[in-house]
Amino acid sequence: MCRSGRRSSWIFFSANVTATDLPNVVPLIERNIAVNSDSILQSGGSCTARVLDWSEKSFDFIQADYILVADCVYYEQSVEPLVSVLQMFSDDKTIIYLSQEVRDYSLKQIKFWEDFHKTLLKYFEVTKIEKERQHQYFYSDDILLLELKLKEKSNNS
Ligand SMILES: C[S@@+](CC[C@H](N)C(=O)[O-])C[C@H]1O[C@@H](n2cnc3c(N)ncnc32)[C@H](O)[C@@H]1O
Repeated sequence: MCRSGRRSSWIFFSANVTATDLPNVVPLIERNIAVNSDSILQSGGSCTARVLDWSEKSFDFIQADYILVADCVYYEQSVEPLVSVLQMFSDDKTIIYLSQEVRDYSLKQIKFWEDFHKTLLKYFEVTKIEKERQHQYFYSDDILLLELKLKEKSNNS
């Protein structure tokens, strides 16, 4: 999710999108939605902003067809809660696209990513989307793109 509030080229394909973040960020998302309201309307879809703190345990969201996670792994406390939230919002049809800037400039960041990836592998089938499958203009060497599918729930415990 772009949070700049500038008009951007979102393409919603008639999807009903819920954009989430911590409470202090939601007003920025709402501003971004307002700036892009014409194109959202034209697409036949919708977009709403909601507070979602991964560390909270109770949510009233429905399960999603697609979940997009952009650059959300960068501190230790988020590792377990974020993976739990992704599990909670997924069923056997949900596809998650997770993009992550490769933060290999510090040992701490490398460890956060390794821990996250290891936890992810316990619950999800993880496929790296190679350069050839990415858009030629939006691909970047320092951005990792993964596709995740929930493993069978019975195998997760
Ligand atoms: C590096 S920013 C990426 C923002 C946006 N996805 C993007 O790509 O521009 C990481 C985001 O994760 C959010 N975040 C951090 N901890 C969170 C938590 N516990 N629950 C929900 N969101 C969280 C931050 O508020 C921030 O917006």
